[in-house]
Amino acid sequence: MSLRIGDLAPDFSVDTSTGPISFHDWAGASWVFFFSHPADFTPVCTTEMGRTAQLSAEFEKRNVKPLGLSTDSVAEHVKWIGDVNDTQNTDLQFPIIADADHKIAAAYDMLHPNESDTAAVRSVFIIDPQKKIRLMMTYPMSVGRNFDEILRVIDALQTGDAHGVATPADWTPGGRVIIPPSVSNEQAKESFPQGWEEVRPYLRFTEIGQS
Ligand code: BEZ
Repeated sequence: MSLRIGDLAPDFSVDTSTGPISFHDWAGASWVFFFSHPADFTPVCTTEMGRTAQLSAEFEKRNVKPLGLSTDSVAEHVKWIGDVNDTQNTDLQFPIIADADHKIAAAYDMLHPNESDTAAVRSVFIIDPQKKIRLMMTYPMSVGRNFDEILRVIDALQTGDAHGVATPADWTPGGRVIIPPSVSNEQAKESFPQGWEEVRPYLRFTEIGQS
């Protein structure tokens, strides 16, 4: 059965461009941005890897470790990382999994046979420090991912966890948040002493400032 939000992220041991890892141990107390890409030495993937490396300080600020995967070998990854660094003007440090036997891609349902039998599609898993899958996104091979959205959704998840709130459409840090319907007005008085705007009984906005 395929993975779903809320599931425990499957553990695995594997070789990567930075050496062998055991996934859960490697993740430790961090969040993980786990993303697959179709192949090394391809144009869209090169820009995505470069962007992830360029954003290393943003990921670190959020306690997030990036982890890439493709079905190529460690030797190919290492050679390609040189190209990524040269062409994207960066210094890629995060590990890229070598999943030549497709074991991990299969466990995470990253192979979509009607797209390709051998190459992974562009899957994203955001995994929290309890190793729970908090977000899944799947992009086709021909479309590079939006890294503003990847950081935004991490911010939204971490803000939701910290404040017990939900986030509205197009929310960005500093914007108004939503008091979930599961929180009664009595409880909300305690949790949100700053008050809220009640647009409807089920639609209450409050301010929490930038966290
Ligand atoms: C790319 O990364 O550029 C790519 C990979 C597979 C199919 C199409 C594009």
